[in-house]
Amino acid sequence: MSRSSSPSSPSATTRSPFRILFVCLGNICRSPTAEGIFRHLATQRGVAHRFYVDSAGTNGFHEGDGSDSRTLAAAKRRGVSWSHRSRPVRADDFESFDLLIAMDARNVRDLHASAPSEAARAKVVLLRSFDAEAAGDLDVPDPFYGGATGFEDVLDLCERSCGALLDRLVEQKPR
Ligand code: 4NP
Repeated sequence: MSRSSSPSSPSATTRSPFRILFVCLGNICRSPTAEGIFRHLATQRGVAHRFYVDSAGTNGFHEGDGSDSRTLAAAKRRGVSWSHRSRPVRADDFESFDLLIAMDARNVRDLHASAPSEAARAKVVLLRSFDAEAAGDLDVPDPFYGGATGFEDVLDLCERSCGALLDRLVEQKPR
C-alpha cells in the first residue's frame, strides 16, 4: 500500500466532536485495540471530549462478539480496557464519520469497494500512515492466528500510531 492512503489533512475542524471509526476484518482484535488505545491516550491528555471513536469490521462474521480474550488480556497488562461488541461497517458510516482508519491494505481495499462516493473513499486512511517508524510497511498485522507476541505488536503499533494521530488532530484544533 502506498502512502497515498495517508490523509493530507485530517479535517479536525469540520465537526465537533471529531468522529473516528477504526476498521479491521473481524472487529475483535485490531480495531477495538486501536479504539481503546486512542480513547485511553485522549483521556490521558484531557482531550477525550473532542472525539467520538468507534470500531467495526469489514466482515460481519463476529457480529455481537466481545473482543478476543488474548487482546483484552494484553491490553489489561498495559492498563487499558474496553467493552465493545463487534459490528460490521455500515453504509452510513462513510457519512457519519470524519475518518475511517484501516488496519491493513486489505481493509482499505474492502472499504474502497463499498464507499458510496469519492468523498467517502477519501476518508479512508491507514493507521500506520501516522507511524513515524513504519519503514514502508503500513499494515498492522492480523494477530488472530498467530502467537502471543502478535497481540503485543498490535498494542505497540496502535500506541505509536494513535499517539501521532492524536498529536496531529489536537494541533489542528487548539482550544
Ligand atoms: P481482527 O482479527 O480483524 O483484527 O479482528 C481477526 C479476527 C477474526 C478473524 C480474522 C481476523 N477470523 O478469521 O475469524
